[in-house]
Amino acid sequence: MTSLSIKISPKPVAGSITIFAVGSENETASFLGSAKGNPLLKDVNLKALNFSGSAEATTRLSLASTTVGLIGVGKGITTANQARDIGGAIGRAFKDQKSIVVNLPLSSSEEVIALLEGISFVQYEYSKYKSAKKAKAELTSVTVVTSHKVAAAQLKRIKVLAETLDATRDLVNAPANDLYPAKLAQIISSEAKIPNVKVEVWDEKRLAKEKCHGILAVGSGSVRGPRLLKITYAPANAKAHLALVGKGITFDTGGISLKPATGILGMKYDMAGAATVGEATLAIAKLGLPVKVTAFLCIAENMPSGSATRPNDVVTFRNGKTVEITNTDAEGRIVMADGLILASELKPDLIVDVATLTGAARVALGNRYTGLMGDDSSVETLKSAASTAGELVWHMPLPEELFELLQSDIADMMNSRVGNPSGGMLVAGLFLREFIGTKSAKDKTRLNWAHLDFATAANNDLAPYGSTVKGATGSMVRTLVTLAEQMGTKPKK
Ligand code: BES
Ligand code: ZN
Ligand code: ZN
Repeated sequence: MTSLSIKISPKPVAGSITIFAVGSENETASFLGSAKGNPLLKDVNLKALNFSGSAEATTRLSLASTTVGLIGVGKGITTANQARDIGGAIGRAFKDQKSIVVNLPLSSSEEVIALLEGISFVQYEYSKYKSAKKAKAELTSVTVVTSHKVAAAQLKRIKVLAETLDATRDLVNAPANDLYPAKLAQIISSEAKIPNVKVEVWDEKRLAKEKCHGILAVGSGSVRGPRLLKITYAPANAKAHLALVGKGITFDTGGISLKPATGILGMKYDMAGAATVGEATLAIAKLGLPVKVTAFLCIAENMPSGSATRPNDVVTFRNGKTVEITNTDAEGRIVMADGLILASELKPDLIVDVATLTGAARVALGNRYTGLMGDDSSVETLKSAASTAGELVWHMPLPEELFELLQSDIADMMNSRVGNPSGGMLVAGLFLREFIGTKSAKDKTRLNWAHLDFATAANNDLAPYGSTVKGATGSMVRTLVTLAEQMGTKPKK
């Protein structure tokens, strides 16, 4: 994507195309805002055009003097999240235009910002491996006609978010022959030259020294060794400490418990959690938010081979816990355990982990929702961040009785109950919870923790919708940035 210049203008300006709003009330379409009574549109008969005005419908009209675009807004835009979706529809429908001018009724600066976000977020295309490069024009400028003011810092934030989403999507879409553990760690490290940011890459030798036996066990089947990437953003004015942990399986074959030919497709995106927490941390740093963030990216390639971990092998973790590996395809929880132990040692105010953890997430929640689990207060914190960001999360329980399914005869627990898929997403959440440390030596309650299972929301294999693109979505990046913004405005307890 070429960089998109975004502007606000109180008066209409010229562009390749101007977009007006059409509302729909009682199945009747009518022009809204500046389109109403506009002489330019006086001969346009919406009924004859069969344009419904339902939300996100678009069309373009060639008039005597100019071309205009129409966007359906249904009963009208009343929330920022609706404005973002409408922006997505505009950005998709008119991306072949060089410059667009959007002239819609918007009732607040928040709606203007969200509309611009939607337009910016859908410009992404992954064309790295297309040999025929497109000669088509690209959108380079957007102007929103509105009297609402948007601060320069807000415009910068939109740009940072759009760039962060695109960087995340590029990593997630990359095929695994081009993106292996060392390379994923190296790409994110090379992007981390930002004030107050430090990165450390742990290779196999360092992982062994640090007793990160989970990441080593999962990575042992591949000739391309595992890594842990630690990113620290520590601004002097930090009001809170957020720890992030991401699943970074650059390809998940299932290992010795090999996946079938259908289930294995798409497993290049099993590193989306790592890409998401890594890029979100860099965005938080670029925005200079007053929150310390420590991110642990747990990166390995899960392959079957003579050196791979076997079913019934036992892994002893850094904190002394032992796990019998009953299914090498439940590898995400094994690498995440190392990251959660390391994060817990820092005693942060909140730990959030992000992982494409279970196929069960799709069974339970479909294609768009991310499963959210954790303690009640952390779940509320994440819900609020996601709803402000306009991302779909759904609170799922961690039923204590399901934990019994993971009892092992020879180790502290096992990583999956083969043959019993009951509550697969929840059992995985219960497994992760075991690796969350206590608040202090005195206070034995667990640290605040929320777990996001975005096994399906990370990748959209259906049609694009709202401000969500096809393929790697960049889902949860904005929720994490919004979370840091919210943590930065609260006084430290
Ligand atoms: N990477 C998969 C989960 C996944 C499945 C992500 C489909 C995206 C789409 C994970 O490592 C896995 O294989 N989980 C197993 C766990 C089971 C063996 C307990 C699963 O969900 O089948
Ligand atoms: Zn797996
Ligand atoms: Zn996996």
